Amino acid sequence: MSINKILNNIDEVLLMGPGPSSIHPSVYEAMSQSTLGHMDPYFIKIMDETKAYLQSILQTENHLTLPISGTGSAGMETCFVNLIEPDDPVLILINGVFGKRMEDLAGRLGASVDVLEFEWGTPVDVDRAQEQLKQREYKILAVVHAETSTGVRNPVPEIAELVRDKDTLYLVDTVTSLGGIEIATDTWGVDALYSGSQKCLSCPPGVAPATFSDKAGESIANRKNKVPNWYLDMNMLTSYWEGQSRVYHHTAPINMLYALNQALYLIMEEGLENVFHRHLENHKLLVTGLERMGIRMLVEPECRLPMLNSIHLPEGVDDAEGRRRLRQEFKIEIGAGLGPLAGKIWRIGLMGHTARPENVERILAALEEILP
Ligand SMILES: Cc1ncc(COP(=O)(O)O)c(C=O)c1O
Repeated sequence: MSINKILNNIDEVLLMGPGPSSIHPSVYEAMSQSTLGHMDPYFIKIMDETKAYLQSILQTENHLTLPISGTGSAGMETCFVNLIEPDDPVLILINGVFGKRMEDLAGRLGASVDVLEFEWGTPVDVDRAQEQLKQREYKILAVVHAETSTGVRNPVPEIAELVRDKDTLYLVDTVTSLGGIEIATDTWGVDALYSGSQKCLSCPPGVAPATFSDKAGESIANRKNKVPNWYLDMNMLTSYWEGQSRVYHHTAPINMLYALNQALYLIMEEGLENVFHRHLENHKLLVTGLERMGIRMLVEPECRLPMLNSIHLPEGVDDAEGRRRLRQEFKIEIGAGLGPLAGKIWRIGLMGHTARPENVERILAALEEILP
């Protein structure tokens, strides 16, 4: 049977997990347009426009701004592989799965990695980070802005102040935060960041926005060794993404980039502030409804993410069976807990196009049904 027949027989699922999120119909429409050549002048225009949208949404003038071909992890890999050389001292602040992934990646590249770990469900502690930064000169300080495994917003602007006058490069994971809460790349002094398309940008997974400051760009240009990953080498990628005459590097995922362009256009059209406000208002609506049902949130209000809401598993509800019923009976996908929080929490996403009052009402009504 053809994939189209198979998929047509599956009911549409409301994606309220930790990503992917639901996609706007106009993004699907953009994806299904005819594929242009990757060096076609019209496609080059689309690349330039996409880059400009990304610069606006990331609040940056960095010329090294582009979507990496691959998911959020490819974005992470791009930042680390371009900035790290063997034995470079790297400090990673960890309070969930994705901070751990950073540690793994930096270690594989031969960095001399120090980590500070914090309890999952709480934010990283700025004072402890400050103390650690006095102990050693680090080339890179890395942290996850929106820790999707717990629903915690880490104090990225406050941490930035710790390295503002240092040579240290500040690297931030914005996979879940981009398009849902503010990211003021230049004002905060972030040197490198990466994101993903499938969270608050509401685009299918497959491209990873990334940006590098001039300071990070210089560090890449002055490396002692070649970037050990050919595909993600920023020196080569920029020759395709910048300048008058573009040089082929790899065949861009053309239709994915149409989709990203349209997803970014929708955010620009709605207005960044309005998009953030919509995420926050729907989060408040959800929390009010959950608390009315006696469901407790994992994270304290002051560091909760609007787009990722972790709840303690309600009394008397079986984790897997509860999620199965939501998926089968109510056509809603939510996320399970990960690592130490497996079996203890559920994660309800309100990302991008999913963050709408009708979806909040739908999940609250479904939860009401499955609670004992
Ligand atoms: C904070 C964070 N970083 C990195 C990733 C990895 O992204 P991907 O799964 O798209 O490779 C994710 C995915 O959920 C994430 O939430």
